[in-house]
Amino acid sequence: MQDLTRRKILGAAALAAPALLSAQNQQDEVNAAIIGVGGRGTTVLTRAVKSPKVRFTAICDIDPEARDRGATLAKQWKPDLLADYRKLLERKDVDAVIIATPVDLHKEMAIAALEAGKSIYLEKPLGLTPLEVKQVVEAARKAKGILQTGFQLRYDPPRRAAIEHIHQGGIGPVAYMQGDRHTGDLPPEKPWLFDASRSGNIIVEQAVHIFDLMNWAMKTHPIKAMGLGGINVYQGRPFPNRSIWDHYACIFEYPDNIRLSFTHLYIDPRGFSGISERIWGHTGAVDLPSGTKSVLTEREGQAPKPEVLWEGDRGDMTQNAVDAFYQHVRESSEPLNNVTYGMYATLMALMGKKAIEEERIVTWDEVAL
Ligand SMILES: NC(=O)c1ccc[n+]([C@@H]2O[C@H](COP(=O)([O-])OP(=O)(O)OC[C@H]3O[C@@H](n4cnc5c(N)ncnc54)[C@H](O)[C@@H]3O)[C@@H](O)[C@H]2O)c1
Repeated sequence: MQDLTRRKILGAAALAAPALLSAQNQQDEVNAAIIGVGGRGTTVLTRAVKSPKVRFTAICDIDPEARDRGATLAKQWKPDLLADYRKLLERKDVDAVIIATPVDLHKEMAIAALEAGKSIYLEKPLGLTPLEVKQVVEAARKAKGILQTGFQLRYDPPRRAAIEHIHQGGIGPVAYMQGDRHTGDLPPEKPWLFDASRSGNIIVEQAVHIFDLMNWAMKTHPIKAMGLGGINVYQGRPFPNRSIWDHYACIFEYPDNIRLSFTHLYIDPRGFSGISERIWGHTGAVDLPSGTKSVLTEREGQAPKPEVLWEGDRGDMTQNAVDAFYQHVRESSEPLNNVTYGMYATLMALMGKKAIEEERIVTWDEVAL
């Protein structure tokens, strides 16, 4: 590895990594490792092994089956298999670590990795509490390595085009935002997800993806939240001690009275499901997943067709995200999913969670320590 101390901010053009690597950087092979080869870890590792100039030297999981899965995916390098993540972090032949373990382990593992001088691709969210988030952010700001948060939706070309269009003033000033994440219930083979003290509840563990998109569009975080939620259908299922909600609705307010309404349901019948990420401005509105814009017109006449803001091969957003991560590691440059935005999305979720739990309006200064 070369010069990991040089830092620079890259523009949007640097997001889709491989074609953009400089000739010099293409020489730099990254020594890579992963902690946690479960569901998400397997998805990310499947992409990471395809990233150019990346060599896996170590794989860690407490579950031998997961270690074997990782070993198979990275077999060309015969990585060492470890059960103790601390041993992985002691190694000199590890520069960049993917951390894809349950949320209650993020703070401990992220800080240990950063203090050991590693760069990390840390699955969302940053932590379970405002204090944990603060500790991760402080460690990242002091660290030699970089921290990229696992918000791969930022690397989805239509969403990126829609957000860039907003930033260029394409729909005028933002007026309102809306997000929905509606699916069936979570997989019962992952008990930790159903324990809010381990996952942070669905607003912290899952909704952060969409919160990050809205914060990106707004270039800031909301200042207050109110909401209600609970368990209406899956009380005591699939585990008697289920502590995560199966539904909630939350309204966040950004500066200048710009509001985001967000609903999150896990009680959707199959085929009924969907996500929605929409942003309205003074002259039009964008639909993020389709990368389209509709113009605000008078009532008379036919509605104009939505304008497509992006065309081409949608590609694989997780591949784009990990390719960008390794590029940022080589260049020691600031990721698009940087620690500040990881903090914004996680604290926003914690603010919404507190508002729902306490049935009152909660303000940003109550969660931003
Ligand atoms: N970005 C996304 O779209 C996305 C999607 C799903 C999950 N996630 C996130 O990824 C993370 C993991 O979720 P998942 O669904 O893969 O969970 P999972 O339960 O499928 O996998 C977790 C893995 O971590 C391993 N593990 C647990 N404790 C460990 C320890 N001390 N040391 C090493 N390994 C350990 C487990 O054995 C398991 O293999 C969570 O933060 C989750 O929020 C992100």
